[in-house]
Amino acid sequence: MVAKTSTKYWGILKLKVLVIGSGGREHALCWAISKSPKCDELFCAPGNAGIEQVASTVPIAANDMQGILEFVEKNAIDFVVVGPEGPLVDGLINRLEKLNITAFGPNALAAEFEGSKGLTKDLCDRYNVPTANYARFDDPNAAKEYIRNQGTPIVVKADGLAAGKGVFVCRDLTQAFGAIEKIMIKSEFGKAGSEVVIEEFMIGEEASFFALVDGKTVLPLVPAQDHKAAFDEDEGPNTGGMGAYCPAPLVDAKMEKRIMDEIINPTIQGAALDGRPFKGVLFAGLMITDEGPKLIEYNVRFGDPECQPIMMRLKSDALELLLSCAKGRLDQYEIEWHNSTALCVVLAADGYPGGYEKGTEIKGLDLAGKEDDIMIFHAGTEKNNGRIVSSGGRVLNVTALGKTVESARKKAYEAISLIDWPEGFYRSDIGWRAVQS
Ligand code: AMP
Ligand code: GLY
Repeated sequence: MVAKTSTKYWGILKLKVLVIGSGGREHALCWAISKSPKCDELFCAPGNAGIEQVASTVPIAANDMQGILEFVEKNAIDFVVVGPEGPLVDGLINRLEKLNITAFGPNALAAEFEGSKGLTKDLCDRYNVPTANYARFDDPNAAKEYIRNQGTPIVVKADGLAAGKGVFVCRDLTQAFGAIEKIMIKSEFGKAGSEVVIEEFMIGEEASFFALVDGKTVLPLVPAQDHKAAFDEDEGPNTGGMGAYCPAPLVDAKMEKRIMDEIINPTIQGAALDGRPFKGVLFAGLMITDEGPKLIEYNVRFGDPECQPIMMRLKSDALELLLSCAKGRLDQYEIEWHNSTALCVVLAADGYPGGYEKGTEIKGLDLAGKEDDIMIFHAGTEKNNGRIVSSGGRVLNVTALGKTVESARKKAYEAISLIDWPEGFYRSDIGWRAVQS
C-alpha cells in the first residue's frame, strides 16, 4: 500500500492526527483536537462509540505497538497523541521518533516516573521535592520489619504499574502486612509488585496538577480535583476517578506558584540532570498539607477524568497546543481558558470497581447532550446494532461548563437525569469541596 501524501507546513498546516486510547480522556482529546482548523483528518485507536462521532476509529489496541506503527506509516500520520501510560512506558514515543513522527508524550525513560514509584521517590529525595518519607524494599520480611518500626497508619504501594490498584492506605499492622502479602508474596500485581514503596501517611486535601513540558518551557495548566472513592462522601473503594472539576479553588495563584517552584520545576530540572528529560504532560497528584504542597505521585499523561473538564475549559486550539509542546515551541504559547468552571460526573456500571455487567443499553444521550455547554464524553461504550451499550467499568463522563462550580454541577446533574441507564450509578456530590469553600 502507498502512503497518502500530507501537507506538512507549519503555519498553514493541515495535519493527520492519531490519538491512542479508548477512554473518556481520549474522547475529550479527540473532541478538542477535532475543533482545530489545523486538523485535516483525525483517527483514534481503538476509540469508543462516542469518539466515532468526531474521529475515525481504527480497531488497533492501545498496547499493539506494531499495529500502531504500521497504521502511522501506511496512513502518513503527522502527529500522534498518546492518552494512556501503558504505551508510553513501553516506548511508543521512542519508536515514533525513530520514524520521524511528531508525538505528544514522554519517551520510555521519562515515562518511568509513572512506571516506578520508587524511582520518583528517589528523584524527590535527590532534588528536595517535598513528599512523604519513604523506604523501598524487595524483601517482604524487611518491609514488614520497617512497617513494625514505623507504626500505622502507613501506605504500602506496589512499585510498578498496577492500574491504580496497587496502593494500600493501611490503618493497622494487619492491613499493612496484608498489603505486603498481596503485593510481594501472592504477586497479585505480577512483576509490578516485586518491589514496594512504603510511605508515611500524609494528611490534607488532594489536587491534580498538570504542566506541559516541551524540553525547555514548563507551562502549568488549570489545577483540578478528582474524586477517587466510588461513593458519596468519599466512601467505598478507590476507583480510577468518579468525577473532577477545574479550576480547583484549593490551588489559588499563590499555591500554584509554590507547586511550580517547589515541586514541578525541581522535578523537571532534576529529571534532565538524571538523563531522563521529560516531554509531554506531567501530572502531579498532590496532597495540600498544613506544611504546604507535597507530591503523592507522578503520572506521565493526562488524568482521567480530569482531562475532560480541562479540555472543555480550554479556549485555545488544543491541536496547536499539544503540537507546540511536542515540537519544543511552548515558549511562543499563551494558553487561553474560558472564564468558567467545568465539572465532570462519571457514570459507571453497577459493581465497578469490582465486577460488573457489560452490554447494557444506554438511552437518552442525544437529549442529555444537546446543550452547547454539556458534553457527554464516552469511556466504556460500544455500538451494537445501532444501540449504545456499555463495555467497561467507567462508561460515560457528563461534563458541563458553568459560570460557577454550582451552576456547572447543576447542569451536569440535570443532563444525567435525562440519561436512561438503569444498570449504571454515579456520585451525587462531585465538586462538594469547592461548593463548601
Ligand atoms: P496513588 O495511586 O499513589 O496516587 O495513590 C492513590 C491514593 O492513595 C491517593 O489518591 C491518595 O488518596 C492515597 N495515598 C497515596 N499515598 C498516600 C500518602 N502517602 N498519604 C496519604 N494518602 C496517600
Ligand atoms: N484520575 C486519576 C488518574 O488519571 O490517574
